[in-house]
Amino acid sequence: MQVNRELRTNNCSRGRPDPDTLIPYPLETYIYSRYPVLDEREARRRPTHAVIDLGALRRNYRTLKELAKGRSIMAVVKANAYGHGLENAAQALADEGVAYFGVGFLEEGIELRQIGVTTPILVLGGVVGYQAGLFLEYNLDLTVSSPALARRVAEEVRKSGRRARVHLKIDTGMGRIGFNWAAAAVFIDEALSLPELDVVGIYSHLATADDEDGSFTQEQINRFNHALSGLPSMEKPLLRHISNSGALFQHPQGLFDLVRLGISLYGCNPNGLTPPVHLRPVMSLMSEVVFVKRVAESTPVSYGCTWRAPRETTLATVPIGYGDGYPRALSNKGFVLIRGQRLPVVGRVCMDQLMVDCGELRVEVGDPVTLIGSQGNERISAEEVAHWLDTIPYEVTTQISARVPRVFVDGESIA
Ligand SMILES: Cc1ncc(COP(=O)(O)O)c(C=O)c1O
Repeated sequence: MQVNRELRTNNCSRGRPDPDTLIPYPLETYIYSRYPVLDEREARRRPTHAVIDLGALRRNYRTLKELAKGRSIMAVVKANAYGHGLENAAQALADEGVAYFGVGFLEEGIELRQIGVTTPILVLGGVVGYQAGLFLEYNLDLTVSSPALARRVAEEVRKSGRRARVHLKIDTGMGRIGFNWAAAAVFIDEALSLPELDVVGIYSHLATADDEDGSFTQEQINRFNHALSGLPSMEKPLLRHISNSGALFQHPQGLFDLVRLGISLYGCNPNGLTPPVHLRPVMSLMSEVVFVKRVAESTPVSYGCTWRAPRETTLATVPIGYGDGYPRALSNKGFVLIRGQRLPVVGRVCMDQLMVDCGELRVEVGDPVTLIGSQGNERISAEEVAHWLDTIPYEVTTQISARVPRVFVDGESIA
């Protein structure tokens, strides 16, 4: 058992929906979940919510694990599992037997431990020496990027009589954290010589794994191999890892022992790549129309009057805005789905509301609005929203703010 079950019991057996745990889904589809879901009243407290399909997450994990040809997977769940909800996402992946979790910061690792996750957890970000005690207390692996940090961590943990679990980070070209690959042998020797450190892994990070041009990734893999050649033979070999989602899709020569996956688990493509396997989007962003009006030609809409009706038209107001992580940069740029139609966001996106030009479509208060996801044959993906914003899907999903309730469903049981 990887997580504390008490927090999340659900009395249904899989595949047999119990009417008490059915939750409303705006497309009038009822989805059954064996994970805890907001109850109907809670889900309806606010019409805006992110629907997180944990069945899709689990399915993506299995698909990617197969693609990784049996390598262990580290599920990267930093930034609230890329906005999908840390606790439930981690539980779903722990249920699948994921080998490792990767987080950005110490506090995210602590949060995972506090909800009962017992799977190994690596904090991928930089660490300052005084944090070492907390790594020990919560049994978290830390990233060591320099001999100075290795010595500092050793000093911090010495009095506890315990050893800090460490992964050595080698910079092969990302230029963020890590010890320079060309001199890695010195760093490795020093870290391995410190008895207070239990060095369990060695890794690097790729800067261009999602580019079509694979030459720099190949160069980084070569540099990583060069650094690894400085490793002494060991009774328990270190876990070697460098690949992320883009590398799994394009560079099978870089898989090593462990593959660190984030965006692909959540069903998105890094940087517009077409994945070699079918992935299911995990997040949908939904709301409902709260106000409808018919306006005359030239009627201005929202702050700054940046949009005026080009003709008589119907406008719908939707209760979601930049305070929810629907970016203001989508003013006069984004689209939403209502009644299966793709309709433009008009005027400035406000903190809590946005307006949609529905033209002659008959729209009513309470109509479901899909901002990310599918309605009928239409679909707006996180990648498409990212494209409108000239950014990447990572930023789109991580920006969905804490104000938006996450409703957890299990699409697998109805697939
Ligand atoms: C060090 C590290 N490894 C792996 C990942 C996962 O990358 P991806 O989401 O592209 O799979 C990240 C994400 O930013 C990362 O920072």
